[in-house]
Formats: sequence, structure tokens, C-alpha cells
Amino acid sequence: MSFKPYARPDVRDSDIDAVVEVLKSQFLTTGPKVPELEAFFSKIVGVQEAVACSNGTTALHLASLALGLKPGDKVIVPALTFLATANVVRMCGADVVFCDVDPDTGIMRLEDLQKTAELTGQGVVAVYPVHIGGHCADMKAISAYARKRGWKIVEDACHALGGSNHGHSVGACAYSDFACFSLHAVKSFTSCEGGVVTTNDPAMAERMRRLRNHGISRSEEAGPLRYEMHELGFNYRLSDVHAALALSQLERLDEVAKRRAEIVECYRQELNGIADAVCSVKPTLHGVPLLHLFQLLIDFEKLGLARDAVAQTLAKKGVGTQVHYQPVCDQPYYKKRYGVADVPGARRFYKRVLALPLYASLTEVEVKQVVQAVKETFIY
Ligand SMILES: Cc1ncc(COP(=O)(O)O)c(C=O)c1O
Repeated sequence: MSFKPYARPDVRDSDIDAVVEVLKSQFLTTGPKVPELEAFFSKIVGVQEAVACSNGTTALHLASLALGLKPGDKVIVPALTFLATANVVRMCGADVVFCDVDPDTGIMRLEDLQKTAELTGQGVVAVYPVHIGGHCADMKAISAYARKRGWKIVEDACHALGGSNHGHSVGACAYSDFACFSLHAVKSFTSCEGGVVTTNDPAMAERMRRLRNHGISRSEEAGPLRYEMHELGFNYRLSDVHAALALSQLERLDEVAKRRAEIVECYRQELNGIADAVCSVKPTLHGVPLLHLFQLLIDFEKLGLARDAVAQTLAKKGVGTQVHYQPVCDQPYYKKRYGVADVPGARRFYKRVLALPLYASLTEVEVKQVVQAVKETFIY
């Protein structure tokens, strides 16, 4: 039985042809494919501006820079996320305030945000909700609360491309200032490495385009041979090679969404409640997700099992698994800076979570093999 990793890039001949076409062309770095990707991306998510960049982390960093985050500012970040969501705040010199999440979804709720805000007091300037696995935070409720306080909102949508929230596509920024996406190889759509920030603020988009290219601006008056730098920027550019791959992948968004949803439905029907203390992550109710991850919640303590041993058993049966994520506040860097955070929901989610293989090229037979392997592991 072949090994099925928890995620696998779905690269087809049409993707390879699109990349080869760019390799044979004049532009390998930023050429026509990057603005083409930006235009296509903004069309599919229904937003004014999409700014392509080198990865999801730089997308979050560009959004944070555009917000003007600075030392002394505080940003509320869910404790259960990938390191990058918090790290970009520190990269701007601002401080992270970790917020708890729902123990059954891993998502920050309004009540978690309210509690953190009350305990934190002054200095909060922004909140960064994260759509873990593709399940969306309740952006309508979070945005109403944040806007009243004058906070900015950056969605970490790195897992959530193709989903919707309160009737708006994720990335439409109906309830946020920016949404940030990753096109990393494990995501539902990839450019190998890549990222996109969306916004409805054209001035902010322009600023992020400058910041991704060393802070350089050009003008018609100065002519093509001169450029100026007014603020410190970075090399966070995406290449045309990567953009061509992303464009080719995004053309089959609906097909991939449908296939992933079928697999998720099959897993849910077959695996929910197969043993006392095993269930799938509860879907959040305010949108239709395109799931990046299929995550089981397993009360390993109750079952008297160790997660590492279960992962090894499943691996021997050909099933790859992964854990998303260790609470970021428990990383030595953050513990040293902020002490031990009070986030019981994030710790309870982390202790139980395990992602199973989910990718569009998973066949019916392979889905059945995964289901069988999981059942054999938990039903004695
Ligand atoms: C929730 C979340 N945010 C941000 C990132 C960073 O994206 P990238 O790896 O493209 O830099 C990731 C990557 O896995 C992620 O899972």
C-alpha cells in the first residue's frame, strides 16, 4: 500500500506546461505573470486589490508594515496558529497578546477576544484572526467588536483560500483590512512558495507593492532609468515562474474544492465517533470552507494512547499524519518574553488534534485505505 502524506501538491501536466512557457520567455522574475495572477486572484475572491509576494509569512509582514505597526503597539493573535502569525508582529517591533481559542475548532471566538481585550487594557491596535485548517473565524462578530475600538483587522487566511464567510469569499475583506494567503506546497493551491495579500484599499496595495521591492518607487517624470526609495523595503517579490504555476492551479479551483469536500464528507461519515473520544473538528457555522486540513480530535489520554505511537502505527499502515499546531505562546522565545499564557482551549485542542491525508488527487481507493487504517487503530 503506497504511503499517503497528510498533504500532497496536485501538480498536473498543464501546470508544468505553464511553468515551461515562462522559462522559455524573457521574464523569469517579475514580468507579466505576476500582475496577471494579482488580477485573477482579486477576481476570484471579489476584492479590489491582490498583492503577490514570496510566501504567506511575507504576506503577513507586508500587511503588518502597511498598518504601520511599531514598538509599543499590541496585536491580539490566537495562540493556536503557525509561528508566522505572531512573528510578523515582533518583526515590526510590536508586541503579541495571545488569545485563547475554541477547544473544539481551534478558532478564536468573539468571547475569547473579549476576554483577552479586557485583560489587556490599553495599547491594542489590531487583531489577527486565523482560519485554521480552512474553518473560518466569525469575522462579522470579530470585526464589529474590533471596529468599535478602532483596531485594524488582518485575517490570516493562509489555510482558507476558496472558502466563504457570512456569504463573502475569504479574501474579499468584507470584515477586515487585509487577508493574507500562503501558496506553499502543502496548501490546496500552490506556487511552490508564494503568498498574496488582499485589500480594498488601493493606497495600501501600492505601498505593499513598493515594500515588497526594496521600497522602490518609479515615476514617469523621472524616466525608466531612475528610481527612488522613500522607506525601507524588502525583497519579497514573487517570480513569474511561481505566478504561472499559481495561475494554472487556480484555474481549477472549483474542481479541487469539490473533490476536497467529497473526501472530507467521506471521512466525517466514516470516522466521526468510531470510538469513544474520537471525532472530527467541529465545523464553524458562518461559512462554507474549502478545507486545507482534515483534522480528527482524539482524546488520547482517555483512550490511554500516546499520539506519537498512534502516528507511527498509522504511518506503518501507509497513512501520514500531522499536528497543527503547538500553541505559539509555549515556544521558548515567547515564554521568555511574555511568561506562561492562560490559553486552556488552545492547549486542549493541540493535545487532541491529528490531521489525516487530504489532497485532490487522493483516490476513492486511497480514501477507503485511510478510513480502514484509522478504524483498525482505534477499534479494538
Ligand atoms: C496559519 C499560517 N499562517 C502563516 C503561514 C506562513 O505561510 P508560508 O509558509 O507561506 O510563509 C502558514 C504556513 O504554513 C500558516 O499555516
